[in-house]
Amino acid sequence: MTAPVDSQNTVQPQDNENIVWHRHHVDKSFRAKQKQQQPCVIWFTGVSGAGKSTIAGTLESRLAEMGYHTYLLDGDNVRHGLCQDLSFSKEDRQENIRRVGEVAKLMTDAGLIVLSAFISPHQQERQLVRELLPDGEFLEVFVDTPLDECEKRDPKGLYKKARAGELKQFTGIDSEYQAPNIPEIHLHAGNASVTDLVEQCLQSLNERQIICL
Ligand code: ADX
Repeated sequence: MTAPVDSQNTVQPQDNENIVWHRHHVDKSFRAKQKQQQPCVIWFTGVSGAGKSTIAGTLESRLAEMGYHTYLLDGDNVRHGLCQDLSFSKEDRQENIRRVGEVAKLMTDAGLIVLSAFISPHQQERQLVRELLPDGEFLEVFVDTPLDECEKRDPKGLYKKARAGELKQFTGIDSEYQAPNIPEIHLHAGNASVTDLVEQCLQSLNERQIICL
């Protein structure tokens, strides 16, 4: 493949007149074509313990086995590095999702299929991420597991701590979760198997022509 040549390297003024956008020769469409895939963000949202990371991780494995180029951004992992300075206050959660949205956008620019697993409890931040991307490149997946089931699972013992008052601002206990109104994919994840839920995601990606089954 020959890299496309942009003779203009055009600059577009941003809000700050001293910062200009540099258009590089190797662009998103070139990188996507090189990988022979349609970049997108598959955004998993749901409360802690709903199964976001497990489902996203299994879906990523299936996509990788099929030859797709992927990256999984996971809430707990990102909070060990990029977002380690952030708490679980409303403002910091907003900043968490803003940063992750920008990173996810950069990764689609790299031509990747990005999976993200964040509680992302507020409709507004999820909408902001959606608006960062072209139409059809943001797929919201609602991992809809009843709170009492998540509390029963309590894989990290965090619900127990939250109930005991040792952990504040815990989503679903003393911090709100706003469910998506019209997610692209709605997974009723309370008692379905991970295999079935991943299959639903794959079918939806196929229908949207992001993958070819
Ligand atoms: S988000 O609300 O900002 O999107 P994020 O997905 O990054 O949250 O992180 C959630 C993970 O952090 C949970 O899976 C849980 O393991 C851990 N955690 C620690 N404290 C809290 C809390 N107060 N509320 C929710 N999750 C918490």
